[in-house]
Amino acid sequence: MPEGFTKVLVKSEVPEGTLKLAQLGGKRVVVANVGGNFFAVGEACTHVGGPLSRGRLSGFVITCPWHGSRFDVRTGAVVGGPASRPEPSYEVRVDGNDILLKEK
Ligand code: FES
Repeated sequence: MPEGFTKVLVKSEVPEGTLKLAQLGGKRVVVANVGGNFFAVGEACTHVGGPLSRGRLSGFVITCPWHGSRFDVRTGAVVGGPASRPEPSYEVRVDGNDILLKEK
């Protein structure tokens, strides 16, 4: 396994166009599959902690299920409020069937 990466899921757990909750070192992370490419950002919405893994994925944007904040899965940046702080984003690698994450 590449230095510093941790296996969190297998690819079949995150079908294209979906979101999946994962754990990385005790932190909740949401993994997104956009067109066969995987991205990962923090799972707790930076507004008041809504569960982004239960939100909606549209293109590269996750919408929080609680009050509709939107985040870009590529960077964690806020695309729309009420959240104002970005999500942490994680480095993702695919190794065979495994999805690996690393803190940036
Ligand atoms: S908790 Fe996500 S928008 Fe409010």
